[in-house]
Amino acid sequence: MRIITSPDPLLREVCEPVEIGDKSVKRLAKQMLREMYKDDGVGLAAPQVGVLKRIVVIDTQWPQEDEKGRPMKKNPLVFINPEIIEHSDERVKNLEGCLSVPGISCEIERWSWVKVKCFDENFNEVIREGDGLFGRCMQHEIDHLDGITLFERLSPLDRLAKLEEYKAAVERGAKPGEC
Ligand code: NI
Repeated sequence: MRIITSPDPLLREVCEPVEIGDKSVKRLAKQMLREMYKDDGVGLAAPQVGVLKRIVVIDTQWPQEDEKGRPMKKNPLVFINPEIIEHSDERVKNLEGCLSVPGISCEIERWSWVKVKCFDENFNEVIREGDGLFGRCMQHEIDHLDGITLFERLSPLDRLAKLEEYKAAVERGAKPGEC
């Protein structure tokens, strides 16, 4: 398994829904999580590993530390066919990176809170909601399933500037996980 990087055309494709009960999903999600942790990411979508299916993995807990400075326990979450069913009116801007756009980070405006309906890796329907990093991450990863990367979320002017910055990052050999 390898993380594909922009401008690979696979990152611009709209992904197919997963068939309910598809047994291959669990194994794929496990491999995606392993890859995500290896590259110090907090989220990964299946198209980033070349699989055009609506699958996302997220763990925004593990890179944080508890009050004693110890790393928090891992909390891997699998999202199958995720859909945003509710969101705040308020939108907030914050910096985001992406394993498929190594070497740069972009200020992106997102809803400050979202509620997402999906299936977990056992095909139980679950509702997950969140703000902060978790809420932002869910929106970022669901964007990937619709072929939307960081660049498509920027204004035309910012996009040009960031594409230049990204070109320079690629030239100096930036790897997934670098921001
Ligand atoms: Ni990403």
